[in-house]
Amino acid sequence: MDQQPVVLDPDRPDLHEEGAALREQGALARVRFPGLPPEARVWAVNTQEAARVLFTHPGTSRNVLEHWHLNQEGHDLSGFPQAAIFHSPSMGFRDGEDHQRMREPVQRALSPSRIKALRPRIESITAALLDDLERRAAQGGSVDLKRYFALPLPMEVICDLLGVDDVQTRARLRDLSARVVDNSIPAPDEDAPDPADFPREVARFVASKRQGRRSRWSWPLRGWSRFVARKRERPDDLTRVLIDECDRGSMTEEELVANLVLIVLGGHETTVNLLTTAIQALLDNRDQLQALREGRIAWKWVVEEALRWNSPLAYDMFRVATEDLEIDGHTIKAGDAVAFPLAALGRCPVTHPSKDRDRFDITREHRRHLGFGHGPHLCVGAPLARAEAEIGLEALFERFPDMELDSETEQQRLPSLTSNGVTSLRVRLTRP
Ligand code: HEM
Repeated sequence: MDQQPVVLDPDRPDLHEEGAALREQGALARVRFPGLPPEARVWAVNTQEAARVLFTHPGTSRNVLEHWHLNQEGHDLSGFPQAAIFHSPSMGFRDGEDHQRMREPVQRALSPSRIKALRPRIESITAALLDDLERRAAQGGSVDLKRYFALPLPMEVICDLLGVDDVQTRARLRDLSARVVDNSIPAPDEDAPDPADFPREVARFVASKRQGRRSRWSWPLRGWSRFVARKRERPDDLTRVLIDECDRGSMTEEELVANLVLIVLGGHETTVNLLTTAIQALLDNRDQLQALREGRIAWKWVVEEALRWNSPLAYDMFRVATEDLEIDGHTIKAGDAVAFPLAALGRCPVTHPSKDRDRFDITREHRRHLGFGHGPHLCVGAPLARAEAEIGLEALFERFPDMELDSETEQQRLPSLTSNGVTSLRVRLTRP
């Protein structure tokens, strides 16, 4: 390692400037993440081609805890906020058969055909949120679309998918999730939920599901017909699917909870950022919005272009080399970590040689991105995220065609290394 590391900054005003600085170093750059000890060996991979190689290389592992040299050397990583997640025994941090065993049932439950069947439900959740926005618009002034639309939409959909019917559990999961992902929420007061409670809250919910199944027979008739109707609509919710796996012995209780936490967190924050990025970009490019509203271009291309132009995840962390790897003239040593700057990779000049790659343009011919990752860990929730964004964006602009960004409030980036979003998105929904 002879280059000077690029120091990454969670408070950077422009993430894409940081991406350009990384690219100046070539296909691989040494980086320094704040909170890690100076001995940390971490690389950023700066071309889509090299990223695809590393995402799938048999000499890399997703099990950061076991292979990263800092863990092996016993460093204290408590100053690095992301370190906690590496302890998760979920599919996200396992390789090979262990990974497949946990991923398979989730992938089946989130398959494109299952998601197609879920579309009417996503549409009705969206419509209810838009009704609420309309009431707020009637009171005058601007509205925070992140708070009242982009945050609740994916959360309501995930709760639905997991079969979280109980209003109180929904509210607690929403609070916990918002607290984990939204750095702008003020410090918790004594009664507020602590993010560390997340696995405990999910475990409580799993226990209540098990209880519910045992006591099903004692439900009153009224409850039964509702239950049957719901089951017809959606044969099994995702929590039940995973509980069955666990009861069959193919997943431990700890893995079950860890996967549910990963699904709630992984499927929430990212989709929120995708929605706010796309809304902002369309309000800044009204000619493209017009083409969409006139049906000259399909809404799905907005979603793909938003993922390319400004990926919801700034960095995907990490893969760890399990052997020495020679990539583009650099040696990544066994134990070194590799981070994927997904937002920067959407503007990779090798994949997107055209000079206008920094521009948001839904009509462009090539939109190759790595917003959902690549290889065996490719986002299992991608069909759902795409459906939510497509449905949500189309319905939002259909209901509020005159919507404008509130010019009096400046949009602020989330002060986060990994999450690429805004703290709020204030708009005027209708013209005065
Ligand atoms: C725009 C929205 C989303 C983005 C940008 C996104 C991004 C990603 C990325 C980049 C990965 C790969 C991580 C890696 O290989 O290191 C991933 C994995 C994952 N995502 Fe998503 N995600 C989104 C939505 C969702 C949704 C809606 C769900 C669930 C309902 C979900 C659940 C997961 C899970 C469980 C994994 C781990 C898959 C595995 O390890 O095999 N994500 N996501």
